Amino acid sequence: MELYLDTADVAEIRELAAWGVLGGVTTNPSLMAKAGRSPREVIAEITALVPGPISAEVISTETAGMIAEGRALAAIAENVVVKVPLIPAGLAACRALSDQGIKVNVTLCFSVNQAILAAAAGAWCVSPFLGRLDDINQDGMQLLREIVEVYRTQGYQTRVLAASIRNPLHVTQAALAGADMVTMPAAVMRQLVKHPLTEAGLQKFLADYRQMAEATA
Ligand code: E4P
Repeated sequence: MELYLDTADVAEIRELAAWGVLGGVTTNPSLMAKAGRSPREVIAEITALVPGPISAEVISTETAGMIAEGRALAAIAENVVVKVPLIPAGLAACRALSDQGIKVNVTLCFSVNQAILAAAAGAWCVSPFLGRLDDINQDGMQLLREIVEVYRTQGYQTRVLAASIRNPLHVTQAALAGADMVTMPAAVMRQLVKHPLTEAGLQKFLADYRQMAEATA
C-alpha cells in the first residue's frame, strides 16, 4: 500500500518527503483554500517535490468545464492526476479525460455502487472517504473492504485510494483491507513512526554506549 499525504501545505510535504516513504499527494479545494495561495503554483511545487501521483481537483460541476480544467491541470506536470467528484458530470469527464490518456481520481465516494461507476468510467483510482462515513456513524472501513472485494472479483483495474483518514488505526486497517494507496494528513503520518518502546530502546542503547565509551576512554 502506497502512503500519500493529504495536504496542500508545501512545507509539510517537503518535511515528510525527506523520510523517503511518500508515494504521492492528494489535495482538494478545501486544502487549497487553507493554503491560501494560487492552486496552480501549489500543484507545480508539489509535483516538483514528489515524483509520484499528485491529485489536483477540478472546481467546475459540469462536464465541459471539468474536462477543460482537467486538461489544464494535467498540463502542469506529468505526474498530475485529475480529481473529479462522483456526480454524473464527473463520471462523464472521467471517461473523456481517461480516453485522452489523463489519469483520473474519482473522489467523494461513499458507496460500492459509486465505486463501480467510477471503475466503469475508466477511473485510474477511486477515493472512498472513510472518516466522513465514521463521522455519521457508518462503517467507513467496511465500505473500503467491500470495494476492494468487488474490484478484485470483477477484475476492475481501478485502484482504491483510502481517503478521509483520521488516525493511525485507519492506516493499519486500510492496509489489511487491501487498499492500493492511503492518503492522510501530515499529523497522522507523524504518528505512524512513533512507538514508546522505540524511543525508550534508543535512549537505552545510547546510554549504554556512552557508559562504555567513558569507561574505556
Ligand atoms: C482525499 O483525497 C481528500 O482530500 C481527503 O482525504 C478528505 O479528508 P477529510 O474528510 O478529512 O476532509
